[in-house]
Amino acid sequence: MKLPDGPKIPTLLQLIKWLGEPFEFLDDCAKRYGDIFTMRLFGFQPMVVISNPQGIQEIFSADPNSFDVGRANEILRPFFGDNSLLSLDGDRHKRERKLLMPPFHGEKVKSYANSICQIAQKVATQWQVNKPFIARNAMQDITLEIILQVVFGLSEGDRYQQIKPPLAEWLDTTASPLRASVIFFKFLQKDLGAWSPWGQIVRLKQKIYDLLSAEIEDRRANPQLRSNDILSLMLSATDEDGQPMTDNQLRDEMLTLLAAGHETTATALAWAFYWIHKLPEVKEKLLQEIDSLGENPDPIEISRSPYLTAVCQETLRIYPVLPIAFARITNSTIEVMGRQFEAETTLVPSIYSTHHREDLYPNPKQFLPERFLERKYSSYEFIPFGGGNRLCIGYALAMLEMKLVLANILSSYQLELANDRPIKPKRRGGTLSPSNGVPLVMKGKRAAKKALVIN
Ligand code: HEM
Repeated sequence: MKLPDGPKIPTLLQLIKWLGEPFEFLDDCAKRYGDIFTMRLFGFQPMVVISNPQGIQEIFSADPNSFDVGRANEILRPFFGDNSLLSLDGDRHKRERKLLMPPFHGEKVKSYANSICQIAQKVATQWQVNKPFIARNAMQDITLEIILQVVFGLSEGDRYQQIKPPLAEWLDTTASPLRASVIFFKFLQKDLGAWSPWGQIVRLKQKIYDLLSAEIEDRRANPQLRSNDILSLMLSATDEDGQPMTDNQLRDEMLTLLAAGHETTATALAWAFYWIHKLPEVKEKLLQEIDSLGENPDPIEISRSPYLTAVCQETLRIYPVLPIAFARITNSTIEVMGRQFEAETTLVPSIYSTHHREDLYPNPKQFLPERFLERKYSSYEFIPFGGGNRLCIGYALAMLEMKLVLANILSSYQLELANDRPIKPKRRGGTLSPSNGVPLVMKGKRAAKKALVIN
């Protein structure tokens, strides 16, 4: 079967570009080949990359059994294990997703609002006037605390303090294109001792697993510690034969949610702080809207603010945290964009390229939140959280976190970018993060009457 045209440069060079400058690479390919092309990365099956909303609709709305996604996520297995939602397909994926979903949806997500506001305020109190800090690190502190507290029922205690450093260090092990190569080059995945890159990853993961195992053991032994967090739900769940989840299954799922649930949102928030402080007109408009809510507004009312929502959407549009959605391997012949693709073809919806289509987003390289107020985008045109049966399970939580953290901090503190140095997207594992983490400086508090007081 002839696949769509694509770059002719050697596959190793394509992989290097993909690792080092994925956005530029996707832009070049879109310019040259349009909204469907084949990317060939050294060591991987060819990937058909699609940024056409109709094609994306055909993929997201197809029968879930048409594709294997867990199998396509092979490179994530050494990190999150065989039992992670990311690695599952078919009935098991469907069952486990159903089990994990409730704490992430509807009213349940709204019930986290006050905790989110309190955690944001607590982290911000550590900032000192005129002393620069890195926005991404601060946001990671906030989002990690939220995911631990809200999803696992862990707060402040010993285990919370113990798990934070190895988890942050583990995520940092792929925090540059060079270090991220370990994900893409299987031959680098060799444990050559504690100082080798892979040895470091393996040991940190074991440390996290040991802490998670201790938490699981505590909860098994003390059912009174269980509440309605995800770990408690997973502990009470049984499969169709009445069997509970094994410790390995529990640990893989916990690690997946911990990592996917805070790293991405921290990056999105760091970008939001960058754009808001880079563009004074955006900041002014946002503050006007937030101030108009008065003192002590209901967090849910904050989260419905149209301009705040548009700023978060534009942040996720212009530099999506994940440049592409998960790859989908076809299980039988399927038609997409009028072309037939045989079984075993890898199809990849490109989030970045869809978000940079001139016809959908005029002046796509400009940060213009107003576009989201002027037009409603479909779930095949604006896709920061992917779609179909693999739609990000944490999207509602992530959006709520973004809005409440921004509103809280902007209403309370006067912040500025610490310097004018240009900031570029840089690979951090599978995600793309601001190159220097966005250094900010706190110039002072805002007048008390302007700060949102949230209890
Ligand atoms: C701004 C923040 C976030 C972004 C941009 C994001 C983006 C994504 C994307 C693009 C996918 C792949 C979807 C697809 O291929 O169709 C995904 C999947 C996933 N996300 Fe998120 N995510 C974010 C926050 C979160 C949070 C807070 C959680 C909560 C724990 C989470 C958990 C997951 C999980 C478990 C999956 C796999 C779903 C499956 O395979 O069925 N993410 N996310």
